[in-house]
Amino acid sequence: MSSSDSAPASPAPASAPALGRPLAGRQALVTGASAGIGAQTARVLNALGAAVTVVARRQERLATLVEELGPGTRAKSCDVRDADAVAALFEGEAYDLVVANAGLGLGVAPLHAGDPSDWSTMIDTNVKGVLHTVRAALPGMRERGRGDLVLIGSVAGRQVYPGGNVYNATKHAVKAIYDALRLDEVGSGIRFTTVDPGMVQTEFSVVRLGDQNAADRVYDGMTPLGPSDVADAIAFAVTRPAHVNIGEIVIWPTDQASTRDVHRTQ
Ligand SMILES: NC(=O)c1ccc[n+]([C@@H]2O[C@H](COP(=O)([O-])OP(=O)(O)OC[C@H]3O[C@@H](n4cnc5c(N)ncnc54)[C@H](OP(=O)(O)O)[C@@H]3O)[C@@H](O)[C@H]2O)c1
Repeated sequence: MSSSDSAPASPAPASAPALGRPLAGRQALVTGASAGIGAQTARVLNALGAAVTVVARRQERLATLVEELGPGTRAKSCDVRDADAVAALFEGEAYDLVVANAGLGLGVAPLHAGDPSDWSTMIDTNVKGVLHTVRAALPGMRERGRGDLVLIGSVAGRQVYPGGNVYNATKHAVKAIYDALRLDEVGSGIRFTTVDPGMVQTEFSVVRLGDQNAADRVYDGMTPLGPSDVADAIAFAVTRPAHVNIGEIVIWPTDQASTRDVHRTQ
């Protein structure tokens, strides 16, 4: 046996993390990137070498993020409820890594006391916004025979909780859309991933409850996830070899056992 085909003295461990810029050459688009999980996902994909386009309604926030991330990053202002505006994002582009993250909860009232205009906003953003994004992303990915489509669902799409009603329904819909895509697109070369977090401390609770103090109380006495915990999971999924599709990632804070069971120290 020659020295060149003998086993190396210290083989690299099988679990060695990907080094360098594994997403170099990839064109990524992240919706809901002006805050929270989306902004952090843009940072992580950028660090791994992707050229990232960040999308949301608040342009000033996006401009600050583009400045932070540097050359190769672009911002596009868009309301994902507007199907034509979402389609326009993809015109003349070749995004091969799309994270459909834009979403929100509004209110925690029981159904009989809920506000139908809040229901419309949640359904139009969390369900139809995801549908518009997926519909616009798919033709290019199908043509190129590859791509990553990551949907941000929630544990609220797997379990309901009191006052969750319509938000729960929208996130159950995201899970159903993910399941349907896997069946419709098998053989296309496209990978689909749903990332379903438990409690993450972002602006989510401020938007949902309408004030910072109420939002802070959601995380009283427990340690929630941060946006990095979710972004890192997305990065793991999209940096696997092409034949590996990480399908469903459910991420809980260690202090959260279900959508209703949270361990608090006080
Ligand atoms: N935080 C949690 O506990 C948690 C848990 C599970 C799942 N999630 C999901 O994670 C995703 C991100 O939420 P987050 O926690 O990061 O909340 P966040 O900090 O409030 O960020 C939400 C993002 O969505 C964008 N957005 C909302 N409506 C939009 C619209 N109509 N068009 C375009 N962008 C829109 C917002 O940007 P603009 O306002 O600038 O448009 C913002 O960038 C959501 O889908 C949420 O349901 C969150």
